[in-house]
Amino acid sequence: TRIAILESSREERIDAVVIMDEETSSGFNGRLAFSIASCVLGASFTFGYNTGVVNTAEGVIKDFYNRTYQSRDGKAMEQSTMTLLWSFTVAAFALGGMIGGFSAGYFCNKYGRKGTLLRNNLLNLLGGLLMMFSDNAKSYEMLIAGRLVIGICAGIFTGAAPLYLSEIAPISLRGFAGVFNQLAITFGVMISEILGLQFILGTDNYWKYAVGMTIVPMCFQLCTLVWCPESPRYLMLLKSDEESAEKALKWLRNKVDVSDEIEEMRKEGERMRKSKKFSITDLFHHKELLTPLIIGLVMQLSQQWGGINAVIYYSTEIFEGAGLSKANAQYATVGVGGVNVAMTFVSALIMDRAGRRTLHLIGLGGMFVGSVVLTIGLEYQSDHKWLSYLCIVAVVLYIIFFATGPGSIPWFIVAELFDQQSRSAAVSLAVLTNWFANFCVALGYPEMNTHLKQLSFVPFVCLLILLLVVHIFQSARDQRKKH
Ligand code: GLC
Repeated sequence: TRIAILESSREERIDAVVIMDEETSSGFNGRLAFSIASCVLGASFTFGYNTGVVNTAEGVIKDFYNRTYQSRDGKAMEQSTMTLLWSFTVAAFALGGMIGGFSAGYFCNKYGRKGTLLRNNLLNLLGGLLMMFSDNAKSYEMLIAGRLVIGICAGIFTGAAPLYLSEIAPISLRGFAGVFNQLAITFGVMISEILGLQFILGTDNYWKYAVGMTIVPMCFQLCTLVWCPESPRYLMLLKSDEESAEKALKWLRNKVDVSDEIEEMRKEGERMRKSKKFSITDLFHHKELLTPLIIGLVMQLSQQWGGINAVIYYSTEIFEGAGLSKANAQYATVGVGGVNVAMTFVSALIMDRAGRRTLHLIGLGGMFVGSVVLTIGLEYQSDHKWLSYLCIVAVVLYIIFFATGPGSIPWFIVAELFDQQSRSAAVSLAVLTNWFANFCVALGYPEMNTHLKQLSFVPFVCLLILLLVVHIFQSARDQRKKH
């Protein structure tokens, strides 16, 4: 199928991805599992951890802001200043993500996929230290700077990890490997939410360790990834080093005869020599690249503008707004985090059998229903106390559907839709788009919450309808082309 994909036109290639979904899984072995684990538990986990760490710990970090402000100015911080400062703290991460995500393609081609992952851990260390010592330095500016640095690190990881995964896994396991990226992200989110609980690290003295813990996955990755090979595709197609590529592939497949895959890469190499390498601007000027590009970018927007990170960054606040006590709001957040992990795991099992597009559409539809129910619950909970629980159910429903498809698919679909010549440009642009959309939500949601109050999810409801319509149109158009 892979050959068919490579020899077909871009449109046919999109269809072939669907055929590929139906292939049976094969080629799984311990070494591949080790490489996938090393990649995702280092890189993707770090991304998830730093996304979630501001959620349950929000209250205690805000107390630190207040104390610091008071010691400097002698008065308490205004609520509006706090909202602004807090949204900056959350959004600095996504701003860094944009910078890192955009440069990921460049680094991946310069240092290799594994090389980039390993080097990027330096940024993890720097960001972690800045955040951890911000308390001692009595400086929230330092915490924000740390969030920016760790954001750049996470941005680079979001480009490099899916690329490495899709290039080390055999075709039939690409979706499966890709979902592990998302699984580790959700796992990181959940662990950080647990550590931020009041009786664990969510206290005045310990929150700094919660933010500093980001260096734990760094240590794990530095100790494990060194044993894994560089991506064979990178070695063969970008470094023209067939010998190393073959060695890497033999290790990953744990078998001596890898001639089929080498032959397939050789063919792709020949094609590459005949065609030119595409830059980001080239993507817009080639008709055959435009369709996959639009699909890829709309998928990024639909992942973020469905409002997922309003939940991941601010759910404790949302649940408190729905009438729950602080402790219960935190537990509900951790519960939602757990559902996210469990459902992502389920989606890993069905990803290579069910079509990507179907899962993505079902997911967006369910998120739409969840956010409508949440809005109803928030709007009427002051009259009917039991509606606080409906709000939890709504968020759980929303997360289940998010995890079904929109959570994981956008991260690996771009690497699947483009070949080696255009892949890194397309990945850079898609990752940048994803982080930009994430940034908008991180910065904008607290303001939306202040002004729209119980209706703070209505903008996401509208965007979900819009994005669903765009996806359905795209889908119908591709079907027409196929026949
Ligand atoms: C996806 C999103 C990320 C979000 C996470 C939640 O990975 O890209 O922004 O925080 O899912 O599970």
